[in-house]
Amino acid sequence: MKKVMITGATSGIGQALLSKYHGEGHQVIACGRDKSKLAAIENSCSKTCLFDLTKQDEISSALASIEALDILILNAGNCRYIDDAKQFDAELFADVISTNLTSLGWLLQSLLPKVKKGGQVVFVSSSATILPFPRSEAYGASKAGIDYLANSLRLDLLQHGIGVTLVHPGFIKTPLTDKNDFDMPFLLSSETAATRIYNGVMAKRQYLHFPKRLTWLLKLFSLLPSSLWQSLILRKHNG
Ligand SMILES: NC(=O)c1ccc[n+]([C@@H]2O[C@H](COP(=O)([O-])OP(=O)(O)OC[C@H]3O[C@@H](n4cnc5c(N)ncnc54)[C@H](OP(=O)(O)O)[C@@H]3O)[C@@H](O)[C@H]2O)c1
Repeated sequence: MKKVMITGATSGIGQALLSKYHGEGHQVIACGRDKSKLAAIENSCSKTCLFDLTKQDEISSALASIEALDILILNAGNCRYIDDAKQFDAELFADVISTNLTSLGWLLQSLLPKVKKGGQVVFVSSSATILPFPRSEAYGASKAGIDYLANSLRLDLLQHGIGVTLVHPGFIKTPLTDKNDFDMPFLLSSETAATRIYNGVMAKRQYLHFPKRLTWLLKLFSLLPSSLWQSLILRKHNG
């Protein structure tokens, strides 16, 4: 049985991961920023941790008492779109980068010393990093940063016997995507996403991507001349 910490365990993919790990008999520490949402999942975890990812002091004090971990799943994040690129919203950009990327530095500083040899750090990025999408300047940049962070950290943690799994989900039905007003091909449930992540992490895979119908298509597009994939993406985006 593993000792697992999951950020963003109060909703969507994180909550489905919590159910999966708890259901399989693992000991889970569930993190969130909302007291009442954490209280609602109290029975499916061994401990809850309350902090807002954008507040460094809250992160450090909430995590000070955490002991050894086998698996650290860095899943929490938000998605906000830049609706008018010409009137670039720097506040929105900073908020997304701070929540999705900068917070990982504070989390890693507090938690990496506690990840055991033989342990695993899991980064939930996005298949949006395979190709750029319109309005995704902030979200895509934060996730591309996560990709580099994870791939670089994997090299440096090898000598410590700690593995890194980078996850590229496609569209998953959660409160985050319920806000989207566009077509989401090959949408999967959060339970399916959690099972894919659970199995891949147990197998210590370095890279997970799903649904493959979407991720292989994006990878194929990315091999085409850029003018071609740009016009395909814009045609889809503009309906
Ligand atoms: N859904 C998809 O299609 C999809 C695709 C690719 C990647 N992803 C990634 O998967 C991860 C989970 O997304 P999801 O779809 O499950 O979204 P979600 O249902 O909105 O869940 C996001 C989780 O992150 C937490 N969170 C957000 N901002 C936070 C903050 N400032 N401080 C602390 N916690 C915060 C949320 O807390 P609250 O419950 O309090 O809001 C929630 O627990 C994200 O990193 C997302 O980018 C999702």
